[in-house]
Amino acid sequence: MLQPHQPPARYALGFLVLIAIVVGASAAAFAYTAGWFSPQRLTPDKIVDALTPPGVDVLGHRRNHAKGICFTGVFEANGAGSALSKAQVFTRGQYPALGRFNLATPNPNAADATVRVRGFGLRISTPDGQQWRMAMIDPPVFPVSTPQAFYDLLLASGSKDPDAMKTFAGAHPEIAAFGGWAKTAPWTGSYAEERFNSLDSFIFTDGSGAEHAVRWSLVPAAQPVPVATADLAKRGPDFLEQEITDRVHTAPQHWTMVVTVANPGDPTADPSKAWPEDRRTVDVGTLTVQQIEAEPDGPCRDINFDPTVLPAGIRTSDDPFPAARSSAYAKSYDRRTAEAKDYPRTTTGAKP
Ligand code: HEM
Repeated sequence: MLQPHQPPARYALGFLVLIAIVVGASAAAFAYTAGWFSPQRLTPDKIVDALTPPGVDVLGHRRNHAKGICFTGVFEANGAGSALSKAQVFTRGQYPALGRFNLATPNPNAADATVRVRGFGLRISTPDGQQWRMAMIDPPVFPVSTPQAFYDLLLASGSKDPDAMKTFAGAHPEIAAFGGWAKTAPWTGSYAEERFNSLDSFIFTDGSGAEHAVRWSLVPAAQPVPVATADLAKRGPDFLEQEITDRVHTAPQHWTMVVTVANPGDPTADPSKAWPEDRRTVDVGTLTVQQIEAEPDGPCRDINFDPTVLPAGIRTSDDPFPAARSSAYAKSYDRRTAEAKDYPRTTTGAKP
């Protein structure tokens, strides 16, 4: 006989069908996210796999910008940025900063003089509990217009086909601006002499609710001194870490944060396109690097400088890169933190 708390057979069947639908839908969602339904779709796994150089042990390291050195310091806002964004980070005052000088290579053992692009990860924290994370590089433009093109560039540069890069450049003429910079811009002997650029565009919202499309740069106080690459190579494979450690030990190093405001119609969705030189700029404060921190097991190890971690008053724009970067950085972070016992083994290490 049917007990009062037992559902009739047709209800039990209904429950089973419902459970099957929920489980099936979850499995389908996972399969979609993993790209199983659309093998041509760009996924974070694919992009991070494409970054990984064959034959190089990357365990425990960031899957790009693998070689670097951590620092702590302070961002001093002068108040001028408040006209553009209501974020507390622009209110006059001092806010703690944590960051990482780095080289744009997935090879943690690369010699410093062989890597053209230098980078800068930064997190500024404010008393309202918000954070502004960013990751900038020293070229004035990004090589390509879209995340898909970045992936195709990774495949072309790793291809055995001797014409792969030529074919890629033919299909992506926007790479010429970056190529021109890479060939002609002087190299320097110090992270402290580099200008680091957001390249991606973001939207600042001011106190009245008005929005401003912007990019920003950290402009060094130190005068850049050009050095021939042959001379840099003679300084040893890890000279950049040693130089910045010694330099900061001698005196704190400063960068001015300069925000560039777009005119209507300026391209915000394409970091390979520079904005005209005459755009309005606002100096919003000074970043001071006060101390070099240990890279192995130091405070930068477990941070992801995800450019979509933004305080209220800054948001992403129609630029497709930050979202693609966020998912790739998260994938890289997942992989390297799961390999924590291997992290990192190859740097010279800092002498704070
Ligand atoms: C689709 C394009 C891009 C992809 C797939 C990509 C991928 C990555 C990955 C996987 C990491 C390592 C993240 C981690 O493990 O914490 C990384 C770090 C970094 N990326 Fe990108 N990136 C892209 C575009 C850019 C752009 C446009 C910039 C600068 C304007 C940039 C600057 C940096 C910097 C400075 C770091 C090092 C941050 C750190 O020290 O942790 N990347 N990138």
